Amino acid sequence: MHQTIETIRKEFSDSLHKAGSAADLEELKVRFLGRKGPIQDLMKELRNVSSEERPLVGKEINILKDEITDQITKKQEDFVAAEEAMRLAAEDIDVTLPGRRNFIGRKHIMTQTLEEFINIFVEMGFTVQYGPFIETDWYNFGALNTPEHHPARSMQDTIYLDPEHLLRTHTSPIQARVMERHKPPIRIIAPGKAFRNEEITARSHVFFHQIEGLYIDKGVTFKDLLGTMNDFLKRLFGSDVKVRYRPSFFPFVEPGMEVDVHCIGCKGRGCNICKYTGWLEISGAGMVHPEVLRNGGIDPEEYSGYAWGMGVERLVMLRHDIPDIRMFVENDMRLLKQFSAV
Ligand code: PHE
Repeated sequence: MHQTIETIRKEFSDSLHKAGSAADLEELKVRFLGRKGPIQDLMKELRNVSSEERPLVGKEINILKDEITDQITKKQEDFVAAEEAMRLAAEDIDVTLPGRRNFIGRKHIMTQTLEEFINIFVEMGFTVQYGPFIETDWYNFGALNTPEHHPARSMQDTIYLDPEHLLRTHTSPIQARVMERHKPPIRIIAPGKAFRNEEITARSHVFFHQIEGLYIDKGVTFKDLLGTMNDFLKRLFGSDVKVRYRPSFFPFVEPGMEVDVHCIGCKGRGCNICKYTGWLEISGAGMVHPEVLRNGGIDPEEYSGYAWGMGVERLVMLRHDIPDIRMFVENDMRLLKQFSAV
């Protein structure tokens, strides 16, 4: 009996040594401790052992049984620990690597520029007014001396929402709204988006930004308008900026004009930004039409005023050498990151 026990012990020890996985151990457990295993066989044989020896042999069998159980358990724990160690190694964090930087949001170049323009005008004494994107036909056209079927309406490709409502085609309706609510002196600017049903190209988009200006008081003249425009453009482009005023037509001003600045892209030599004219058109402007004053409840015999509507995109493209208006809305980080003011 003793010999058999030793043989089984040796056999188990060899098998345990070879066990390479948790499954192997499970198999060993069944093989040695199971109903058809050698321990059970020993137990059965115990009956044939003499009654004097039986307690001793029984004890020996029990010791072997406990040994096998313990060793399997221990090796099982080793496997679990090794697996855990492997998992941890795979998840290992290299604390010497530089951290992942969070990208801090910045103001869009268009917002930055609008704020800069607004600040200049505020320093000049203008206050800021805003109006809705969705306008009525009256504020966008009617109040601005552009009756139905007026040819000037076809100058603006209007996006109508229904026969009464439209997306404002310019910031000028804010003029009409402000005149209704305020008595002169009025000295406001109105920045914001405007919408036109235009083909999207490098130079035009369905939406863009304007800054409207409006000054109404007793004795406001064309000279005041020219002075304000000159001042603003000098502050923006430097005192040697070249500005040109051309007569033009807008139904809500009389006289009306367009303001051009010398193309800083090519210094007037001609390039594709200025369509080889050497000049860039940046704003419509003029003296507020008496009819528009009257629509706003202001007596044109007593008051006069000037107004302008300046396009913002083109100025930004010019100042920062941005070749395509579509880039403002593409959200390409390579462009946005270059304008880092927050
Ligand atoms: N609203 C005009 C436009 O969008 C510009 C303008 C504004 C002209 C004010 C004169 C006075 O083209």
